[in-house]
Amino acid sequence: MSFLAARRLTPEWLDALPSTDERAIGSRRDLVRLNWIMRHDAIVADALRAGAREPPRTLLELGAGDGSFMLRVACRLAPIWPGVTVTLLDRQDIVNEATRAGFVGLGWLVETKTADVFDALSPAAPQPYDAITANLFLHHFEGAALRSLLAGVASRTKLFVAAEPCRAALAWTASRMIGAIGCNDVSRHDARVSVEAGFKDRELSGVWPVEPAWRLSERRAGPFTHVFSARREVA
Ligand SMILES: C[S@@+](CC[C@H](N)C(=O)[O-])C[C@H]1O[C@@H](n2cnc3c(N)ncnc32)[C@H](O)[C@@H]1O
Repeated sequence: MSFLAARRLTPEWLDALPSTDERAIGSRRDLVRLNWIMRHDAIVADALRAGAREPPRTLLELGAGDGSFMLRVACRLAPIWPGVTVTLLDRQDIVNEATRAGFVGLGWLVETKTADVFDALSPAAPQPYDAITANLFLHHFEGAALRSLLAGVASRTKLFVAAEPCRAALAWTASRMIGAIGCNDVSRHDARVSVEAGFKDRELSGVWPVEPAWRLSERRAGPFTHVFSARREVA
């Protein structure tokens, strides 16, 4: 599948739909199932655990959507990382009360930030976080925008973990079949273009800021996922 050799960005339908649109609501429900099938909560939780030298006090998720993904990650981590303050950042304000209560039930504090990621990571907003994560988010960006986003992350944290679509034939074929499990037209479109915009090899390491303090890891995890992590070594 030579068309997967280079990344190709196509706008995702979910990003253009209002949060109250029935098709958007259906697609966010599909995302929960797809994350579950791909085991992204386990992949992100394991990478965070492996990268953290000590339990983080503050955690930021970029492009957190309705927060249900991070809640599943929190379920895995709360027994060993109590009392984390998690900030869910997204352009859409869609974290419901049940999800907020889920974090509280785990003993975590939850904050939401409704903003564009580039405003949230601008030099005017220098707040640091012990760890930052992204799930199915970085593939929305390329070139100078992706570089600037990652530079903003690197200047604010000592641990970053991202789980993204793997740009490979098996993932692309699977993305064409998700209608069989009832995913709607928005999800079917966005899954395919997400794989085409996904990552492979050392593509994220190549745009991470070049500084000797960072230890980078980038690899495939399972059939559909590309995981990147960056940890700042202490001097
Ligand atoms: C594919 S969804 C993933 C949501 C969540 N991480 C998950 O796995 O369920 C991507 C999310 O990124 C958000 N998003 C896209 N571009 C954004 C931007 N420039 N700033 C902030 N959020 C953005 C969208 O609103 C959407 O919720």
